[in-house]
Amino acid sequence: MSILLTGATGYVGQHIKTAFDSEWKILGVSQLGDIDQNIAACDLSDESAVYELAQTVSPDVIIHAAGDKNIQRCERDPNLAYQANVQTTLNLIKAFPDAKIIYISSDYVFSGDRGGYRESDPIAPLTVYGKTKASAELNGLILSDQFYVLRLSALYDGEATFLRFLREQLQSGKAVDCFDDAFYSPTFYKDFLNVLDKLVMTPKLSNRVYHVCGQRISRFFFAKLFARSAGFDDELILQASRLHGEVPFLFGDLSLENTMTCESLDVTIGTHHAYLNSLEVLDENSIAVSNL
Ligand SMILES: NC(=O)c1ccc[n+]([C@@H]2O[C@H](COP(=O)([O-])OP(=O)(O)OC[C@H]3O[C@@H](n4cnc5c(N)ncnc54)[C@H](OP(=O)(O)O)[C@@H]3O)[C@@H](O)[C@H]2O)c1
Repeated sequence: MSILLTGATGYVGQHIKTAFDSEWKILGVSQLGDIDQNIAACDLSDESAVYELAQTVSPDVIIHAAGDKNIQRCERDPNLAYQANVQTTLNLIKAFPDAKIIYISSDYVFSGDRGGYRESDPIAPLTVYGKTKASAELNGLILSDQFYVLRLSALYDGEATFLRFLREQLQSGKAVDCFDDAFYSPTFYKDFLNVLDKLVMTPKLSNRVYHVCGQRISRFFFAKLFARSAGFDDELILQASRLHGEVPFLFGDLSLENTMTCESLDVTIGTHHAYLNSLEVLDENSIAVSNL
């Protein structure tokens, strides 16, 4: 299976590359590239650069994990957000008409007012980031019958930004305010890779939009679970309200629901409790993920 992996230097792309490099023939690209990792440089928002790329490779599948997920930057510069999230997608669809494209999308295509969003629910993004992800999804689904959407919630392993931050604070005995009124459904990286593998390998997929996520949980309780499983004092995790905080674009409930995905791909999702307990503390500065 030959794969063009965009965003290969990013957090999502690195997980994909590490997991599947020996199984698939992967050509990784990113905006700047990385010679050491054999990742090519290509600005995918540049139409002619993407056409040039298409002269040199003809992948069976494109995993489109390039984009800008920085919510504040997207708000400040909607054009940049459009270029990174929408234009890159349009260029790939045009330049690679024969490839199956799996677009890595986000829970932010929903408004975050009620949670439990299913794959078939109408989208209603409120942020520039969410609007550009939604626009890429809709364009792709309309323009190509080989375009598939895989939405995830915040992806986590032992090195996810939120968990690294928590670990640093808890290690130095600092209390951390965590919102008990901001719900989401964080995606464990092994579940993501499992679902992605099925989407890549299944020749005739029965649906166009898929969700991979964990159970709905508040940020407060997720932080508590992490503190307990990593052996920290969980009393340092303090209950706070997003309504009194300064964090913009944190919604009441952005959680996804994934029954259709699990049933149609025959996938089972574990619990955050089990996953967080599988993150093994190696020393005080690093956490590795043990085999589940
Ligand atoms: N991380 C999550 O929890 C999460 C959750 C839901 C959805 N997603 C989606 O997954 C995608 C990747 O997220 P991430 O966490 O991996 O982000 P990231 O770590 O910031 O990586 C972004 C990647 O996109 C590449 N890129 C950006 N603009 C590009 C362009 N014009 N041309 C070519 N490559 C470009 C970057 O290349 P350079 O490094 O060379 O600049 C980098 O490889 C995003 O679209 C995001 O919406 C992520």
